Amino acid sequence: MSATLINGSFIIAALLFILALAGLSKHETSQRGNILGAIGMALALLFTIAGVVFGTRSGPFIVTAGIPLWIAATLVLVLLAGAVIGITKALNVEMTEMPELIALFHSFVGLSAVLVGWTAYLQMAARGHFDALHSGELYVGIFIGAVTFTGSLVAYLKLSAKIRSAPLALPGKNALNLGAIVAFFVLTALFVLYPKGTGGFVLISAITLLALLLGLHLVASIGGGDMPVVVSMLNSYSGWAAAAAGFTLSNDLLIVTGALVGSSGAYLSYIMCKAMNRSFLSVIAGGFGSDGMVVSQQKDLGEHRETTAQEVAGMLKGATSVVITPGYGMAVAQAQSAVADLTSRLKAQGIEVRFGIHPVAGRLPGHMNVLLAEAKVPYDIVLEMDEINDDLADTDIVLVIGANDTVNPAATEDPTSPIAGMPVLEVWKSGQVVVFKRSMATGYAGVQNPLFFKENTQMLFGDAKERVADIINAL
Ligand code: TAP
Repeated sequence: MSATLINGSFIIAALLFILALAGLSKHETSQRGNILGAIGMALALLFTIAGVVFGTRSGPFIVTAGIPLWIAATLVLVLLAGAVIGITKALNVEMTEMPELIALFHSFVGLSAVLVGWTAYLQMAARGHFDALHSGELYVGIFIGAVTFTGSLVAYLKLSAKIRSAPLALPGKNALNLGAIVAFFVLTALFVLYPKGTGGFVLISAITLLALLLGLHLVASIGGGDMPVVVSMLNSYSGWAAAAAGFTLSNDLLIVTGALVGSSGAYLSYIMCKAMNRSFLSVIAGGFGSDGMVVSQQKDLGEHRETTAQEVAGMLKGATSVVITPGYGMAVAQAQSAVADLTSRLKAQGIEVRFGIHPVAGRLPGHMNVLLAEAKVPYDIVLEMDEINDDLADTDIVLVIGANDTVNPAATEDPTSPIAGMPVLEVWKSGQVVVFKRSMATGYAGVQNPLFFKENTQMLFGDAKERVADIINAL
């Protein structure tokens, strides 16, 4: 296959990826962005496989030879099996399981980068020829890949609640992280200088082990409330791991794609850090958020008041402005269509209804926006936290539907709280607050919520979808 054709298709695929990212930055264009990205990926896969199977030629010269038929057939079968597993998983995954699935996918990228690095090392070792540039590339690739692999696995376990989300508090955790980074630089320099023989093998094994442990430690030491930043940080790391594998394989498209994922993930982490009032530099160093010593104390916050769907319907009839702040519980209850229905009915009665979306509501960036878009809630009434917070004092009723940490006043009122400093939706400033949830349980960060005990707050217990349906019936 002609190298020009392959390179041309790679350039088109890279452009499609850039257009996809641009499309994904706005609700209105996000579907188109997704489609463009999928076309780009199909093109990239097709020409990469064709290049490997048939070999590449530049003019009369063979650049790489094709592979034997049985290897080609096995390769295609493995790819088809992967595609079938991927499609089945994507069709069956619940919206609430998306973050852990993404974390698992990131771990695969990391593992691939480690395997690519090791393969390149074994090939160089067999030839007995190492050049400094490639040795450095593969060493860094293995390091980033291994950190991404174990870090993403821990994130997967925490997000799927298979392990506790509380931070691991090893003594001197920041010193451990710093020591690992220093060891990485020293080991890299040693490997570039002495890559051959048993010494090279020991050095490459050492960096793999060090990075696997560092990935485990970085993510295990981060508390539940800070997980959103970890997810976007691992997204970024997986991009850099792919770019590193691209250098090792001399695959320009993988380098470009990896850099796009790496830089957009880093920018997303930056936005998340701003939203959660965390330091970006300490995030990428892994020593941020809770220092592991902050444990949420259960305090006696007084009595909460309960209400019924009928009473809430009566309150809504007398309101002129309503704000809905959805959270993870809306996703669990799959209440978005019922909420959209309630919104249309209230609007039909001349009541102003708007949504206030916290940047980390739910379990993945844009989680609430996706659900509301799916339920056909108009984009112009869906506002970001910064756009709605100042209006909450003039709002008659706020309906908190399955949100908890993102409306927790402890973040602004209690400096000892594990979520202290995180900007939240200040719903308690409104006239009345109705909280939809099933119990008095804490949210993802495991922190008690004083909102539930405020004078103007009433709890509406039960599944959010059922309670919203009850209110619609009562209206
Ligand atoms: P959370 O603090 O997680 O609280 C969700 C609430 O929904 C829970 O208190 C739960 O209470 C309630 N709930 C669950 N199922 C329900 C149902 N069927 N009906 C009614 N209520 C239900 O939610 P949030 O305010 O959206 O905050 C998100 C949290 O996740 C933050 O701490 C954030 O840092 C973290 N996080 C976010 C992300 C991203 S990127 N968004 C990623 C990882 C972690 P009951 O059990 O009593 O019903």
